[in-house]
Amino acid sequence: MDPSVAFRPFLEQVESSLLTQLGGPSPRPEDTLLAAARHLCLGGGKRARPMLVKIFGDTLGVSDAKLVDAAVSAELIHASSLLHDDVVDNGMFRRGKPTVNTRWGNIVAVMSGDLLLSGALLALSRVDARLTSTALATVQEMTRAAIDEVQARGNLELTLPQLKKIGEGKTGSLFGWCGLAAATVAGNEDAARRFDAFGRRIGVAFQMADDIRDITGTDEGKPQYADLSSRTLNLPVILAVQKDQRLKRRIGDAWGWTALTPEKVRELGTAVLVSGALDEAIVLMNQEIDAAVDALGPYAQHESGANLVMWARTLAQGIALKGAA
Ligand code: IPE
Ligand code: IPE
Ligand code: MG
Ligand code: MG
Repeated sequence: MDPSVAFRPFLEQVESSLLTQLGGPSPRPEDTLLAAARHLCLGGGKRARPMLVKIFGDTLGVSDAKLVDAAVSAELIHASSLLHDDVVDNGMFRRGKPTVNTRWGNIVAVMSGDLLLSGALLALSRVDARLTSTALATVQEMTRAAIDEVQARGNLELTLPQLKKIGEGKTGSLFGWCGLAAATVAGNEDAARRFDAFGRRIGVAFQMADDIRDITGTDEGKPQYADLSSRTLNLPVILAVQKDQRLKRRIGDAWGWTALTPEKVRELGTAVLVSGALDEAIVLMNQEIDAAVDALGPYAQHESGANLVMWARTLAQGIALKGAA
């Protein structure tokens, strides 16, 4: 059955709990931080992390009631990282809407991100101290990766392993935590290790898909070439410059200029597109998914485990391949 149909009751519980954490149906209108958080969190987003918690939990037979808190916290931790990321990247559109930093400014965006993050961790601490400490470690890893990415800006020598480490920190660590959390609730240590490893590799694949769509422009919710414009290294660009020294010089020169015009960015994006790097990026993404399945070990054979693999594959490939051909 289509997971988005099968999981509807669970996702409805997640939405209702998210709404409660974000001030309920009639929040105080003067609460700007909450208004900003609601702008991002309500009515948008794929809810990939809550879905992950649910599918991991199903693999171990955990009831929905025991998974909702972890699912909501994962979504809120993610949302807070997006609020901060859009300040760091000067992002203009997110989930098809103007970003919080565009609408309310950087100060509100940073602080409403902090509010979401502390709220998520506080809520988790009331449920399970073990989940709180692993979630805190995850947030630390995400933060380190975010600064590593900023420090790598404009560095066309960045290697594939370095890029993957950043992707694992930015995205894989929280995907892994979704598995870790479900297995912790089930009290299954072997599953915790395997789910964490699976989530991390799937997160890297998902980040690769996100990198690919920066070049293909197939995410309707955010602008094409945002990474290229902000000199943020991404997978197709790294692969393209490794193949083509001339293109490397062209991108290096363009990134060295103070004003990077939209026309210049488009020209470079098209050069990356025709370099063949996208096909290579898709191969690498699929390798990452295969490695994730290996990490899952025996759980990949369970019925729910097979669903998990199918869902993750569809998620990453759907994002990457849409419009890439
Ligand atoms: C966006 O994550 C940032 C990345 C990890 C690539 P999602 O693609 O899950 O964003 P939403 O939650 O659907 O907006
Ligand atoms: C996701 O990565 C950001 C976080 C996980 C915090 P990106 O920086 O690639 O996300 P987009 O491309 O801006 O959505
Ligand atoms: Mg970003
Ligand atoms: Mg991105």
